[in-house]
Parts: sequence; structure tokens; C-alpha cells
Amino acid sequence: MIVRPAEPADLPTLAPLWRAAWLDGHTGHVPAALMDARGPDHFTAHIEKYAASTLVAAGDRVLGLIILGDEDGEVIQLAVDQSARGQGVGGALLRAAEDRFRGRHSQTWLAVVPGNTRARRFYEFHGWRDTGPMTYQAPTATGLVDVLVQRYVKDLDAIRRTD
Ligand SMILES: CC(C)(COP(=O)(O)OP(=O)(O)OC[C@H]1O[C@@H](n2cnc3c(N)ncnc32)[C@H](O)[C@@H]1OP(=O)(O)O)[C@@H](O)C(=O)NCCC(=O)NCCS
Repeated sequence: MIVRPAEPADLPTLAPLWRAAWLDGHTGHVPAALMDARGPDHFTAHIEKYAASTLVAAGDRVLGLIILGDEDGEVIQLAVDQSARGQGVGGALLRAAEDRFRGRHSQTWLAVVPGNTRARRFYEFHGWRDTGPMTYQAPTATGLVDVLVQRYVKDLDAIRRTD
């Protein structure tokens, strides 16, 4: 498996992978207005919008993606195909994000919904810490939807350490 920048040919595969994983992590944990706004069209449009700041994990096929906010060191989205979970793919993507931000930001951050306990365990295992609740304004085609999330951070040393 390698982690590399997303390519245009990946996008038709990434949109449904991302949507399925997003639903796994968010169903039952976010307002109905956000669920209603997260149909297939949202993911198709946004994977194109974010393509330049997306890394993918790939073997003989694309296994997962991570979308990076270079401006402020945010991990905007992380998604691993259900068939590939529990094999280190998410960890490899998260480390690639930390490596990219190291030297540019002293800290990286992300928002995770409180009920997404699998993701929270995963981040904590990788050395991230929960700094408490915040309101995240999720973009939709008709405006912003307020979502209660936990803000997780990880301090980034100038030199990479092994986890
Ligand atoms: C969260 C997610 C990205 C993790 O991806 P993954 O490829 O399964 O991650 P990894 O294989 O690297 O690690 C997963 C598991 O191993 C654990 N783990 C990894 N190495 C470990 C070790 N050496 N010892 C103990 N636990 C370990 C992680 O905490 C996690 O535990 P769990 O399976 O008990 O929940 C994936 O589950 C996913 O896509 N979920 C749906 C979308 C989502 O929720 N995204 C995050 C939104 S904020």
C-alpha cells in the first residue's frame, strides 16, 4: 500500500467510498438537516473541489482518503473503505497528514462527532487528544448546518517521532 496525492482518475471511486464511510461515522450522530444534505451529489462535487488537497491510500485499488486543510492544519475528512478497515490504512493516512503539516503548523486538528466512538478511539491511539466540544459549521448546498463535535488536536514536533 502507498499513500499518494489523489489523481483525476481516482475521483469516480473516491466519491462513493467517501460517502459510504461518512455515513458509517455520522448516521445517528448529526442533525437531520445535515443527513439530508449528504446525498451522492455532495460527495461528487466536494471530492472535485478538494482533489488538490487529498491524499489516497492505494494498493491494487483505492482503499481510503484523507482531505487536508493546509491553511490551518485541519484534517478535514478521513475515510477508509469498509473492506479495508482494521489493517492500518487509516493510520497510514493520518501519519501522512501529520508529516505534511509538520514544520508548517505546530499543531494539527480535526472535528469528530461525539458518537463516532470508533474514530475517537483511533485518534486517541494515534496520540491525538480531545480538547472539548465545539460547534462545527458544516457546509451544505443551502447554507451552513451547526454540528456539535469534539475538537481533537495533536502537537507536531519539528522532527518526526515514531508513534
Ligand atoms: C476511523 C477510520 C478512518 C479508521 O481507519 P482504519 O483503516 O480502520 O484504521 P486502522 O486500521 O489504522 O486502525 C483501526 C483500529 O485499530 C486500532 N489500532 C491500530 N493499531 C493498534 C494497536 N497497535 N493497538 C491497539 N489498537 C490499535 C485503532 O484504534 C482502531 O481500533 P478499533 O478497530 O478497535 O476501532 C475508519 O474506521 C473509517 O473510515 N470510519 C468511517 C469514517 C469515519 O468515521 N471517519 C472519521 C471521521 S472524523
